[in-house]
Amino acid sequence: MAARMATAVVVGTHGGTDVLSVVSVPVPQPGPGEILIEVEAAGVAYADVLMRRGVYPETPRTPFTPGYDVVGRVLAVGPSVTTLVPGARVAALTVTGGCSTHAIARADLTVEVGEGLHAAQLTALVLNYVTASQLLHRVAAVPRGATVLVHGAAGGVGTALLELAHLHGVRVIGTASGQRTKAVTARHAIAVDRRLGPIKDEVLRHAPAGVAATFDPIGGPHLARSRALTAPDGVVVSYGISFAVDDGRSRFPALLRQGAALARAKITPGPGVRLYVIAGRRGWVSKHPEHLRDDLRGLVCLLEDGTIAPEVTTLPLSEVASAHERLESGAVPGKLVLITGSTP
Ligand SMILES: NC(=O)c1ccc[n+]([C@@H]2O[C@H](COP(=O)([O-])OP(=O)(O)OC[C@H]3O[C@@H](n4cnc5c(N)ncnc54)[C@H](OP(=O)(O)O)[C@@H]3O)[C@@H](O)[C@H]2O)c1
Repeated sequence: MAARMATAVVVGTHGGTDVLSVVSVPVPQPGPGEILIEVEAAGVAYADVLMRRGVYPETPRTPFTPGYDVVGRVLAVGPSVTTLVPGARVAALTVTGGCSTHAIARADLTVEVGEGLHAAQLTALVLNYVTASQLLHRVAAVPRGATVLVHGAAGGVGTALLELAHLHGVRVIGTASGQRTKAVTARHAIAVDRRLGPIKDEVLRHAPAGVAATFDPIGGPHLARSRALTAPDGVVVSYGISFAVDDGRSRFPALLRQGAALARAKITPGPGVRLYVIAGRRGWVSKHPEHLRDDLRGLVCLLEDGTIAPEVTTLPLSEVASAHERLESGAVPGKLVLITGSTP
């Protein structure tokens, strides 16, 4: 019997967007603890760009299918899965493999979601809003009334941080480039345009004693700048290495530079630096998959009752290269989502 086929995005080798292709592959089979999802919507994350370029800390070997987060319907469950049944509509953190009509997910990183909810907005919750929620509440534990600094504030995780911080009564100063500052002010935050020069004076004008927490997805040399804007008893949360793309660095020099920046932060006076990564060997979900499910369920309720409204831009799966280009050039605010067209 002919194998059932899926349509999947493949990164053939590390490089620019020309290494992305959309190909036909056999539908994968779920192993123990896994489910097979027929994908409605698959997120495109900056992590995908870093993986495609080969600078992500746990970059998979090529060829691989990127895709950190999906929404779809369970088609089959693997051995020992008792929590989900075929037919259920779900949202899942896949880390890789999501940009396909058919994806495998861990059952313990999957939650059931309502039928009527918008697939792309649900997808935005899985990586971006869960990350934002965990950064804010589990890692930095920012109290109501505090002022925080969010870098990349117009981006996927950034806009989620702004929305959740506002909901929690936290004042935000957010950095973004040029026109993207509009997405920051639209979310009740104080926008600082990083293209207009050093941001230090502008941030300290709004928070003279330094901010209570800085959320830094840039990493490397940027961490010292974040510490300088944070109160001595505050915290810098380092959750990305976007500097590696700007630098055009390859993986190991980028990781060495990040490691050196973290080591320097430990031995120089000032606020502490905490690392956060959602998945991978040292990922939050490796220790606490139940936190992902709890946080995601809570966020789905907030979407259901209209408390949050993730900003999304959708493209067909076949336009994945354009999606990467747009994400990399900062052309879209919020979350970019690929629609598979695999479901009616
Ligand atoms: N640790 C985790 O578990 C985790 C989870 C999710 C995401 N992340 C990380 O979070 C970051 C954001 O991801 P995303 O998917 O939401 O992407 P995104 O924010 O939509 O895109 C990244 C944005 O960051 C800003 N940026 C890029 N390089 C910068 C630099 N050198 N200095 C200052 N700002 C810079 C740019 O916005 P402006 O030009 O407007 O400033 C850019 O558009 C990525 O580094 C990603 O890897 C980490």
